[in-house]
Amino acid sequence: MKHFILKELKIHALLFVLFISACSSPKHIKGAVVSAREEASAIGVAVMAKGGNAFDAMIASDLALTVCYPNAGNIAGGGFLVYRTAAGEKGSLDFREKAPLAAYADMYLDQEGNVIPDKSLVGGLAIGVPGTVAGLYEIHKKFGTIPWNELVQPAIKLAREGYLVTEKQQKSLDGKKEDFIAINGKETFYAQGFKEGDWVKNEALALTLEFIAKNGKSGFYSGPVADALVERVQATGGIITHEDLLSYAPVWREPVHFKYKDLSIYTMAPPSSGGICLGQIMKMIEPYDVGQYKHNSMEAIQVIVEAERRSYADRSLYLGDPDFVNIPQDSLLDMDYLNQRMDSFSFEKATKSTDISPGTIVWDESEETTHYSIVDPMGNAVAVTTTLNGSYGSKVFVEQGGYFLNNEMDDFSSKPGVPNMFGLIGGKANAIAPQKRMLSAMTPTIVERDGKLSMVLGTPGGSTIITSVMQTLLNVFEFDMDIQTAVSTPRFHHQWLPDIVVFEPALFSQTLIDSLKNKGYDVKEQYSRIIGRVDAISISENNTITTGADPRGDDAAIHLYK
Ligand code: DON
Repeated sequence: MKHFILKELKIHALLFVLFISACSSPKHIKGAVVSAREEASAIGVAVMAKGGNAFDAMIASDLALTVCYPNAGNIAGGGFLVYRTAAGEKGSLDFREKAPLAAYADMYLDQEGNVIPDKSLVGGLAIGVPGTVAGLYEIHKKFGTIPWNELVQPAIKLAREGYLVTEKQQKSLDGKKEDFIAINGKETFYAQGFKEGDWVKNEALALTLEFIAKNGKSGFYSGPVADALVERVQATGGIITHEDLLSYAPVWREPVHFKYKDLSIYTMAPPSSGGICLGQIMKMIEPYDVGQYKHNSMEAIQVIVEAERRSYADRSLYLGDPDFVNIPQDSLLDMDYLNQRMDSFSFEKATKSTDISPGTIVWDESEETTHYSIVDPMGNAVAVTTTLNGSYGSKVFVEQGGYFLNNEMDDFSSKPGVPNMFGLIGGKANAIAPQKRMLSAMTPTIVERDGKLSMVLGTPGGSTIITSVMQTLLNVFEFDMDIQTAVSTPRFHHQWLPDIVVFEPALFSQTLIDSLKNKGYDVKEQYSRIIGRVDAISISENNTITTGADPRGDDAAIHLYK
């Protein structure tokens, strides 16, 4: 009996503690980092705990992802930052990779003009000139409050002391082991067969990071780190030179800004297609008031898919690197144009993608993936998506440096009309040229409501990035979900070509799928796959911070309590 009472008391005490923390914890959250790995989130939060801001935390978390999330975290890739300072200033930094100086439009074509499979995907020629370290250093110069060297130390420690291999990570490494060996030889670091529960100690990367800690940007773009990089790229058939590395510079860009109902949305401008496409899709959806339909109901899916179809068609023709081509951004986001694009939509029957071409825009100039979100106690917010493109990029590993090199060159259009690894089609606007940036879909996004910070989000997922960000926004603002539910709930995707609606596996009812098929939508269940891994932070009207880490990955939200 005594034992029973004690047990009861313990249960009550436990319930009481849980009740108190459930009631009170969100109000005490002063800052948060949500990223693909718990270690990286914790490192960013530790930086904020010692007084650093969201930009300081960004640098530390980003470098930690390079260590413990080698499939996407990187020092030899690129990405985009969208930020909002505590004072309400918005901006973005483009640290996207560039085509090497020796690149040219037909570099992936054979003598008959056909695309040579894998040439833009695997090996040295697939590698774009990396932008990440230059980007992080630029952010540090503008916003940093903690010395650079200090911000790099946690990643060095993680590389030296090791990170824990998760179940998902083991699967990912096992799946690519043959590729690692094919490119780098049997002795390559990541072909050791790391298993779940193993600790990966990467001393070579620790030394590279030490050099970057001491020398800042030039620690990567010149000196022994650069020598090893250039040597490895050229040994695997690539064309990047020291001159390419030395001439790399990130670019501050005006974010794309659009309104959706009472929301003000700031997101990435070209060379990402993310911002323009997100804006187009949401503005095409807005008049339909999708919140009146049930979440993931047939009607809601129809409106969203039809808007996606039309936007991705425009993407294929108009979008590329704004430093090389003129992009009719205002026209593409013009409400009259977008309403006109949706004129041909009917709830009765699917539009066929063959009946949709990119819209006709008249303008007066000539032609021419891991995400993390951070909010700090001061109220600064950063949304960062960064990538090697494919998992482990080009699979080329710099043994001496301990890191993978990107295969971002595949994001260019190798040949008009021929799809890239994400099935995306492009043309002249996204053709390869020396020092040009390849078109991206990355969509780091910040939302304001009534002039106040309301949400920070983004995701990896190639072409599905834009539609995953968009669905997460609608889930919160139209379907009234809390941020974690909005992130976790099933997603679907359409991108004009191929003309297929993709649903996450086993999460949508057969009745719904059959009804869509009856309306003429092509749904190929075999194409079902995980869509996006969204990491988001929501800030309520009374400044309560809540977080959503995507359960599709090992993503984790770490909170700063004060
Ligand atoms: O920039 C882009 O759009 C692609 N390179 C992103 C790749 C990506 O998201 C891969 N992750 N799943």
